[in-house]
Amino acid sequence: MPPAVRTDDRPDARLLAPIRDRWSPRAFDATHGLTDDHLALILDAARWAASAGNSQPWAFLVGLRGDPTFTAFHARLSRGNTAWAGRASALLITLHQVAIDPDSDLPFSDYAAYDLGQAAASLSLQAQAMGLHTHQFAGFDHEAVAEHFAVPPHWRVTTGIAIGQLAPASSLEPALAVRERRPRVRKDASEFVFAERFGEPAPRI
Ligand SMILES: Cc1cc2nc3c(=O)[nH]c(=O)nc-3n(C[C@H](O)[C@H](O)[C@H](O)COP(=O)(O)O)c2cc1C
Repeated sequence: MPPAVRTDDRPDARLLAPIRDRWSPRAFDATHGLTDDHLALILDAARWAASAGNSQPWAFLVGLRGDPTFTAFHARLSRGNTAWAGRASALLITLHQVAIDPDSDLPFSDYAAYDLGQAAASLSLQAQAMGLHTHQFAGFDHEAVAEHFAVPPHWRVTTGIAIGQLAPASSLEPALAVRERRPRVRKDASEFVFAERFGEPAPRI
């Protein structure tokens, strides 16, 4: 059975504003610059995320538009992502630890990917609350990025996160503008919220 998808509604107005308003645009304002202070604040949101045993198994490579990190990462994106990501104010590469650091006795857990996800979500919501937008993406050459940035083997290059100021959809090339205006869709809660038995919708949700 195809998933129950709700296309007819908007996020609940009672949600926290950054959760309600967050979405992943492709149209970023190429004249907007992210200040060091705002960048630090956004990364501080990631820093305060929960993690297994407080292991904090995340890392970020940070590029601001036009700098060497931004340019090198952008050159390694998939064609689809190259088309829009260059107008973002910042491109972040996220990483999580996948093995014990041979030179350290810092704790390591199997939940590192989960923890990075939480840090990325916190970061995105902080940016949203500051009037910015984020767009996470996995479409890039992970191996080439790891090699270029000399990532050690116990870390895994995971995703990219574009951060910037929203621009009108009309600023995009026509094919991207069409995608930008598509309604956002979500599964119905009955597809993933269960109670007494996996797969059986929880009666109260
Ligand atoms: C791990 C991950 C990988 C993604 N990869 C891409 C990508 O390569 N290109 C892209 O345009 N969007 C990418 N996205 C964005 C998703 O398509 C987007 O979050 C999803 O469609 C839900 O839309 P929303 O964020 O606007 O709610 C990715 C998101 C995540 C979390």
